[in-house]
Amino acid sequence: MKILAIETSCDETAIAILNAEGDISEHRFTILADTLQSQTKLHAEYGGVFPALAKREHAKNLVPLLELALNQAQMNTECVKCDLVHKAVLEEMLSREPEMFTQLVTFLETHEKPAIDAIAVTHGPGLEPALWVGVNFAKALSKIWNIPVIPINHMEGHIVASLLSEETRLPDGQVRLGTVHFPALALLISGGHTELVLIKDWMNYELVGSTRDDAVGEAFDKVARTLGLSYPGGPEISRLAIEARTRNEKSPYSLPRPMINSGDCDFSFSGLKTAVLYQVRDIGSLSEEQKQEFAQEFEDAVVEILLKKTQKAIEDHQVNTLIIGGGVSANTEIRKAFKSLFENEYPNKLLYIPETKLSTDNALMIAIAGFLRSNAGRPTPGVEQLDFRAEGNLKL
Ligand code: KG4
Ligand code: ZN
Repeated sequence: MKILAIETSCDETAIAILNAEGDISEHRFTILADTLQSQTKLHAEYGGVFPALAKREHAKNLVPLLELALNQAQMNTECVKCDLVHKAVLEEMLSREPEMFTQLVTFLETHEKPAIDAIAVTHGPGLEPALWVGVNFAKALSKIWNIPVIPINHMEGHIVASLLSEETRLPDGQVRLGTVHFPALALLISGGHTELVLIKDWMNYELVGSTRDDAVGEAFDKVARTLGLSYPGGPEISRLAIEARTRNEKSPYSLPRPMINSGDCDFSFSGLKTAVLYQVRDIGSLSEEQKQEFAQEFEDAVVEILLKKTQKAIEDHQVNTLIIGGGVSANTEIRKAFKSLFENEYPNKLLYIPETKLSTDNALMIAIAGFLRSNAGRPTPGVEQLDFRAEGNLKL
């Protein structure tokens, strides 16, 4: 089946097309298209993601990205004047996005229906106004092309993205997911989430730990702002910490490891973020070297907390596979720490960390989750009626 996937949960607009053959146990994927339009530079001016701007940009970008994706997949067949039935329905469905409606009508009137079998779309969690743009776009295409929509949880996307790796690329250019030995555990670390999720079987989840305040990515972004770095702060902190580590010295600063000995699998990052703020305020203006030393100590604190809590969950639940997902998993130090933990402590367990380009938001992960959902017989209720909603706080 050919799946068109749409992702608009935050500040990346992305569309992918995946050809998936077989079932979950015997699947093979061909990535036909993988497109992304990042808005991070636009949001950097505001020091974070500005929801109204994200919504407007998604609405502007989706039709051009659809065209680009179909071109990449060589599925873009133009026609002089295609028959656009249901134009009035489309107008009603996209009444909140008039610009996208106009672009889409022009597109549909000049392009034949592509050989797509289903649409997968992120419907949460994320910024609700941003999510709605993708959801309405998916519903409109579903109506016009008469194909089903599979609503996808963005975090499920991050989980499956980690299962794609260089090792799972097949010689003919096709790819498959890495093997998972259940029960598995997902450590989800992104701008909005810090969660430990027990995965008993495909798409069968239980939350076993989560942050009580800030998400770890949020802490990276806020600490970066305190250090005078640009948004998104994670990569900036990572860059400074790498510089500091070349000197092979311990950071002169000392930051707390909140809740590290709380005896459960929950996290707290707000105290860590505030500790940086107070120490920096006491110093006044920081030299480049001091910024690097703060970045190093902050990263060390995060790594220690993530390792300790994840290890507890692995042992409490007798987990056989750890899957790390979300934007923060792009962090070099975190990747190194988990690889070394598994080499030393758990040589018989499986560890999956996403390729760096698949760590952050993309639509390929949504397409794969769409394939798994449609194959596991676990589609989300309400799909046929297209009555599902964008849900900012959607849980796994
Ligand atoms: O998953 P993602 O792309 O979007 C959300 O769903 O939130 O994650 C974005 C987060 C941001 O907080 C960003 O600062 C962080 O991931 N991030 C990093 C790195 N690259 C991105 N954090 C630490 N180190 C990195 N190299
Ligand atoms: Zn994400």
